[in-house]
Amino acid sequence: MSKICVVGTGYVGLVTGTCFADLGNDVTCLDINEERIEKINKGIMPIYEPGLEQLVETNVSAGRLIFTTDYALALTNVEYVFIAVGTPSGDEGEADLQFVRSAAEAISDQVNHPIIVVNKSTVPVGTGDWVTDIINKRRKTTGGEPLDFKVVSNPEFLREGSAISDCMNPDRVVLGSTDRSAAQKIAELYTPLRCPVMITDLRTAEMIKYASNAFLATKISFINEMANMCEELGADVVEVARGMGLDNRIGPSFLDAGLGWGGSCFPKDVKALAHMAVLHGTHPQLLQAVMEINRNQRRRVIYKLRNALNGLNEKTVGILGLSFKPNTDDIRDAPALEIIHMLENEGAIIKAYDPQGAENAKTMIPRVTLCETPYKVAEGADALVVATEWNEFKQLDFERIKEVMNQPVVIDGRNIWDPEQMLEKGFNYFGVGRGSNTH
Ligand code: UDX
Repeated sequence: MSKICVVGTGYVGLVTGTCFADLGNDVTCLDINEERIEKINKGIMPIYEPGLEQLVETNVSAGRLIFTTDYALALTNVEYVFIAVGTPSGDEGEADLQFVRSAAEAISDQVNHPIIVVNKSTVPVGTGDWVTDIINKRRKTTGGEPLDFKVVSNPEFLREGSAISDCMNPDRVVLGSTDRSAAQKIAELYTPLRCPVMITDLRTAEMIKYASNAFLATKISFINEMANMCEELGADVVEVARGMGLDNRIGPSFLDAGLGWGGSCFPKDVKALAHMAVLHGTHPQLLQAVMEINRNQRRRVIYKLRNALNGLNEKTVGILGLSFKPNTDDIRDAPALEIIHMLENEGAIIKAYDPQGAENAKTMIPRVTLCETPYKVAEGADALVVATEWNEFKQLDFERIKEVMNQPVVIDGRNIWDPEQMLEKGFNYFGVGRGSNTH
């Protein structure tokens, strides 16, 4: 059993802290946002993540997990402090490190015993050294004794929607440090997970995180580019991806063509990596193309709808799904929102439904009529767009949908429906990269 503090109760912090507690450690999660901590203490989770509420409750009841806003309390006698705060995009695409800085300063102010500072936030390469500097300088300026601490980088690879299972069953754990024994101590925390642990230097670990996210985003943009070609060449990208994925060197995952990647990580991290590259005099041409393809993928929906409906002015378009992916209420950089704004700019009237994301989205799309079911969205619609592949959209009553729609036009932005069946049912069906008759 180790005594751990996790700073930040966003996706990464809340899930990591809870999972460490579930593995038997004594964990305190800290956040400076009082309202957030108050709610968590009442059992109200700040995010929708399957299984999280239950796991938090179990570990709080077992006395292994507490939530607080009090740094002094959170850092008392802890051996390891994990920094898992947000690193949003700054004006130039760079990662904004203000929350990492305040966490480092708080550690410097509150801790007077040996400690290992573990960075879990996605931070620019070199941040581990920067954190070391901040702590050392702060101790000097506040007149304190030098602090005995080591910094370890431990990037997080969990996905929203499957965060707990990703956290408990990682493909690998990456640890980077200038001090190998510190990294080894953190490795021991992960022993119960029985996964490969890689120990490397600080900057390499930080780079692994960016390179991994950028590579996955590249894979998606690649298949989206292939999808656009498939539409012109009469091939089916779903089959193309299957055929490619059977090659072990390529692998089947992250080859689903669709509306492009969104969420809280890929857009921010690819931008930040490209920004770092430019700052250091290299030309991130591939990353620029990956981002451009992603932007275009949203625009193509507008183009398809404009053609199918003969203009968009005063046409009613129903959007199925608002969250950036299923099983989350996260709407950050969600394709649906961008598509809605583009459609509204062309005069379309929008109705939408999402099983979890509507509440978060509503202030960003004030003119949209939010509905209670997909069938309500379909009522009077000139077209339906699948923007998020929630399971409940996969088996709809298509007779009913067609009956209530004004025109049976569907844009299946996530390729969840079978093109031939949809054509047979009388829909004017457009998937993404599904051959010449269906785009
Ligand atoms: C991602 C990384 O997977 C994770 O390792 C990292 O820690 C955080 O960022 P997440 O943003 O939760 O996780 O979602 P992910 O499942 O990776 O999907 C990202 C985006 O890519 C979503 O918008 C999704 O719809 C899109 N996507 C994913 C595709 O368009 N096609 C695919 O084949 C896979």
